[in-house]
Amino acid sequence: MLKIWIAGSAGQMGQALNDTLDPLEMEVFNTDLQELDITRTDEVLNFATLNRPDVIINCAAVTDIQICEDEPEKAYRINALGARNLSIAARKVGAKMVQLSTDDVFDGQRGVAYTEFDEARPQTVYGKSKKAGEEYVKEFTEKHFIVRSNWVYGKGKNFVNKILELADERESLAVASDQFASPTSAKDLARLILFLIQTNEYGTYHATCKGVCNRYEFAKEILRLAGKDMKMESVPTRMSELSSSRPAFAALDNFILRIIDVYEMPSWQESLVEYMEERAE
Ligand SMILES: NC(=O)c1ccc[n+]([C@@H]2O[C@H](COP(=O)([O-])OP(=O)(O)OC[C@H]3O[C@@H](n4cnc5c(N)ncnc54)[C@H](OP(=O)(O)O)[C@@H]3O)[C@@H](O)[C@H]2O)c1
Repeated sequence: MLKIWIAGSAGQMGQALNDTLDPLEMEVFNTDLQELDITRTDEVLNFATLNRPDVIINCAAVTDIQICEDEPEKAYRINALGARNLSIAARKVGAKMVQLSTDDVFDGQRGVAYTEFDEARPQTVYGKSKKAGEEYVKEFTEKHFIVRSNWVYGKGKNFVNKILELADERESLAVASDQFASPTSAKDLARLILFLIQTNEYGTYHATCKGVCNRYEFAKEILRLAGKDMKMESVPTRMSELSSSRPAFAALDNFILRIIDVYEMPSWQESLVEYMEERAE
């Protein structure tokens, strides 16, 4: 039975992995901040030595862009050094290492989807700290999967849940139509990760659902599927009521997945339908 350690297990991705994996096939060690702070090097090494996981999946992070800007030490401590600690632990026990990462490692200025071979040039503290995390993982482990995604939604705070919440409170909303990416359900990303860890296809992956849309189009589809009515205005980011400093064009090309031809992500629309159906249950 494969032994998996999910660090950051209470977050969106941690929960999605737990909801998706088969407990008859995998033994899971779940830890979040309360059980084990990934910035505590010795505790991380002790946990790995004691439990000897075959795979470590790092879902722990500070993902709030504003917190990262306001508290860069915290961002680097968790997003970079935390990833370093887990990868040192992975090397020590011979485990495979999965590092979740983001489109924010790119500057979002190109207007064309980024492949894994494009140069990362992060503009935000969040993006820079995640890139530093990727570099530590590459430095300390050979058997790694770095999985970059964007606009992830699952159980927790995310754009889909925010739109649905606002639809119950507001009559109208201004949403940016100049931010582009591929909405990706945490569950679909979890399925891909659970597939990858059973292979030896190590390296960096872009993993988003197929298709690209802007925030306004995404919000409209969320409301349509929920059967909710709210007047929506398509505006530039600076006038958006849900503004964000994320890269303007954050689309990722799943280039490696495509050329090794072993796994295909669903379209963002299909994925959203599944999420909305499960949410309604
Ligand atoms: N969400 C997205 O759109 C998106 C897109 C691309 C990539 N990603 C990446 O995917 C990964 C998971 O994202 P997510 O959306 O699941 O994030 P999330 O919901 O914010 O979950 C992160 C979890 O990590 C925990 N954590 C924070 N500091 C920790 C520490 N020092 N030690 C242990 N646990 C700690 C958090 O606890 P607290 O809540 O108590 O802080 C939270 O439970 C991250 O690496 C993120 O960069 C996310």
